[in-house]
Amino acid sequence: MCGIVGYVGGREVVALLIEGLRRLEYRGYDSAGVVVRGPEGLIASKAEGKLDRLVDKLEREPLTGSFGLGHTRWATHGAPNERNAHPVLDARRRVAVIHNGIIENFLQLKTELIAAGWEFETDTDTEVVANLISSLYDGDDLRGAVDAARKRFEGMYAFAVMATRREEIVATRQGPPLVVGLGEAENFLASDPAALLTYTRDVIFLDNAELALLTPRGVEIWDAQGHPVERAAQRLNWDPIQVEKGGYKHFMLKEIHEQPQALQDTFGGRVDFELARVEFDDIGFEGSLGESEVRRVHLLACGTSLHAALVGKFLIEELARIPVEVDYGSEYRYRDPIVEPATLAVGVSQSGETADTLSAMGAARERGASLLAICNVANSQATRISDGVILTHAGPEIGVASTKAFTTQLVALFLLAVRLRQARGMETAAEELAALAHLPQAIDETLALEPKIDQLARRFFRAEDFLYLGRGINYPIALEGALKLKEISYIHAEGYTAGEMKHGPIALIDEDLPVVMVASGDRVYDKVISNMQEVKARDGIVIAVTDHDAEELAGVADEVIQVPRIHRLLQPIVNVVPLQLLAYFTGVRRGADVDQPRNLAKSVTVE
Ligand code: F6R
Repeated sequence: MCGIVGYVGGREVVALLIEGLRRLEYRGYDSAGVVVRGPEGLIASKAEGKLDRLVDKLEREPLTGSFGLGHTRWATHGAPNERNAHPVLDARRRVAVIHNGIIENFLQLKTELIAAGWEFETDTDTEVVANLISSLYDGDDLRGAVDAARKRFEGMYAFAVMATRREEIVATRQGPPLVVGLGEAENFLASDPAALLTYTRDVIFLDNAELALLTPRGVEIWDAQGHPVERAAQRLNWDPIQVEKGGYKHFMLKEIHEQPQALQDTFGGRVDFELARVEFDDIGFEGSLGESEVRRVHLLACGTSLHAALVGKFLIEELARIPVEVDYGSEYRYRDPIVEPATLAVGVSQSGETADTLSAMGAARERGASLLAICNVANSQATRISDGVILTHAGPEIGVASTKAFTTQLVALFLLAVRLRQARGMETAAEELAALAHLPQAIDETLALEPKIDQLARRFFRAEDFLYLGRGINYPIALEGALKLKEISYIHAEGYTAGEMKHGPIALIDEDLPVVMVASGDRVYDKVISNMQEVKARDGIVIAVTDHDAEELAGVADEVIQVPRIHRLLQPIVNVVPLQLLAYFTGVRRGADVDQPRNLAKSVTVE
């Protein structure tokens, strides 16, 4: 979604805002803008498209002033053009607003404001925020005006406001995140700590309904009732280098290569390999539902995280023998789910901000489930609303297409499955845990296949459609492979369980259709080979990803990607890596912007 950055202090504000926006551009990149206080009031500069367009504009028409706000947009209300870009000023040019989220009752408020004589220039809901605040602003108490205005807003939003009178920024949130960064005689605001890391690692995450006032002298926070909030800053342990490309051409490729370390970080310190036990000091959902009491699990997620949840179903059902349902966050609450007693609902989310997943978690809670979050971002909303949290420790993921977040989610789900097994007093998962220790090495070896996969991309990048097939625990890997290709290269791709091919998708097969088949050495291997024969019999092109000897498939597959073999339950984590690389190299060959694919945003904070 949109990226928000704000600064009060003595530095060159425009350069600082642009640098912050660079770090946030993955949140949205339809348009960008900044506003500062200039000698004659608020001055904004905005441009349609990527941040570089704004940078070019600022080079041609420089902007100087003190304290300011910056924004990078993923359009919800109003086309992604310069007019609708943020910051949005009110009709009287007294306040400037940047905003992430949706004001659901904006039409009603707009009608009221128009009746009161306020004019509107944009199609955004943000302009309602600006005009309403301005209508309540006496020219002195900006905080009071924002506080009064926000009581009228319905929806999920985070916004920041400045006026000219004082060097101050007022910000509040209801849903989407906001984080305050603390400095010496300067303070920062952002929707994501990644924007702040160059300047400070001391941060305060705002809670829902809190309101913050930032001045160079300090930061004050109030809760919804107007009571002052005292909250100590926390020190982020993210390294600023992690949000750089580090010599890679794209964040996506860098993040694919970070997987061996990221996976190690997910299970490191959480497994006693000698005793074959998973030990989490930090999970703590015992408060509401003891682990040994869990009788049902609901996994709630969207997109790539949903694919991780689908693998998680296999892991938990097989290792802990507990029935698992998997739901799209966007569907769950609308189907009136049955939540039986002793249900653990697990929200799986890289960002912890995805509105659909959060709503589903809320719906599960309302129906009596205990909540666990499997999440990459500490202090995100998903972690805050949950009784327990398993952080995936993947480090910041900047590429819009999720890669290391996915594989670390799979490890976290595996650890959860083993943990639930232990809690039920079942036999130790010794073999599985022993295999886990070899996983980073297996991923390293898989990454060495990169040149071969680049060659494959070169052969197939002009294809118009792809089919991905897998079975059993590797079926969600087929879905994920197809999703990655769609997102990054804009090639139409479908994922199916291989067994379903004959019930419809087989009609698509011809000599132009590459069919990527995940054929792992599990109990359905032979069946997948039969499916391959069926594709070949119809002149389809088979690209096999297998942990079997490539020779075995020589007669049936046109191309074989042989990956290292690991325990059957961990094999999906290895198998997905070549599919990530295939999507990446195909996207690059097609000239697509792989880190910022069209129409997407990293975290989707609207329904
Ligand atoms: C795909 C992708 C999205 C996200 C989805 C959920 O590459 O990144 O499909 O997986 O938007 O996001 P999180 O995991 O942040 O809830």
